[in-house]
Amino acid sequence: MANKVLVTGGCGYIGSHTIVDLLKHGFEVISADNLSNSDERVLDGIEKITGKRVVNYRIDLCDLAATQRLFAAHPDLVGIVHFAALKLVGESVAQPLRYYRNNLNSLLNVVDCALRHEVPHFIFSSSCSVYGNAQELPVTETTPWQRAESPYARTKQMGEQILRDMARVHPNWQVILLRYFNPAGAHESALIGEAPTNPASNLVPVITETAIGKRPQMVVFGDDYPTRDGSCIRDYIHVMDLANAHTKALQYLMEGRNESNCEVFNVGIGQGVSVLEAIRAFEKVTGKKLNYRIGPRRPGDVVAIYANYDKAARLLGWRPKRNIEDIMRTAWRWEVARTGAAHSDVSKR
Ligand code: NAD
Ligand code: WQD
Repeated sequence: MANKVLVTGGCGYIGSHTIVDLLKHGFEVISADNLSNSDERVLDGIEKITGKRVVNYRIDLCDLAATQRLFAAHPDLVGIVHFAALKLVGESVAQPLRYYRNNLNSLLNVVDCALRHEVPHFIFSSSCSVYGNAQELPVTETTPWQRAESPYARTKQMGEQILRDMARVHPNWQVILLRYFNPAGAHESALIGEAPTNPASNLVPVITETAIGKRPQMVVFGDDYPTRDGSCIRDYIHVMDLANAHTKALQYLMEGRNESNCEVFNVGIGQGVSVLEAIRAFEKVTGKKLNYRIGPRRPGDVVAIYANYDKAARLLGWRPKRNIEDIMRTAWRWEVARTGAAHSDVSKR
């Protein structure tokens, strides 16, 4: 059975973990990534885990001609998983044009090529940020969107709308929009994990970087929220569980089980974890005391958000298998492994 999949952003954090899961389930994979926030060394890690070498095409997907050449060279694609995007919320507030240009132009080019080349299945990386400050918890796929809190979040709202419009006029094209909550953790092997070129700002890498000494101290952004311990609540989803949602979504489309040609799914664990609970989970699984202080609230943070994932469970047969402790254990092993590797790189010079 033809099963070649194009993963855009395949050298990035979620893309690389998804490639591992796709290969494990018998898919053939090619990646297209301009390495603006990643490094091709991740392909070595993927090869060590799976025994398979994935080729990355280093192209900017905003370059339509280069994207067309890629599709022309691979006329046998059965699906696309489109991860490529810039993702820093704060940076998007400071540089909105760069975010709109990159995230929307790359999406438009990939969609254009997918339709021209009749690649039938398309999975899009959306985000819980489309909900904005949700008025009901947990959020379901039908919870109304509030105003986007950043240009980044707006690129995800617009991306979803573009895909809905395109799916309406191309009824043979099958699209799934996956709304990720807070992805974190790493592959069990510690051979791949989150390795951004840009400085990390998400909670879990900030915790592991503090514990290993790359940062002197971390700040908990506010303990005066109306939550059980005063800190914000999020739905942290292990990256390997999230990766598997993509495989399940592709299989669902390829088996023709979808009810419409553009469907949306929340991908979270369905439980809120507070910042202080996340820190305690880290301390429990590693036995390390984290150096943190309570600071002021971070502008733009929502108080609490977590998913209802019943739809993904019912239709995709997907369920998260890992919890916050698995996230902290694997994130910590990855931090130790990559920091050790960085030190040995230095000592070899
Ligand atoms: P990431 O930065 O690790 O991966 C994105 C990859 O896309 C990078 O390797 C980058 O080099 C590449 N890329 C960016 N623009 C490109 C372009 N124009 N052409 C080619 N390659 C390009 O990010 P991630 O955390 O793996 O996120 C993947 C997707 O999931 C993104 O669309 C992101 O918005 C979305 N998402 C991420 C999170 C999160 O917290 N990590 C949450 C919800 C949604
Ligand atoms: C989590 C919690 C912080 C760092 C972002 C995007 C969202 C989606 C997921 C892409 C918050 C607190 C954090 C620190 C802290 N991404 N925190 N000290 O903001 O929930 O979501 O990533 O689509 O769109 O907005 O994630 O990891 O930054 O923060 O106290 O040094 O940890 O205040 O409560 P966030 P995060």
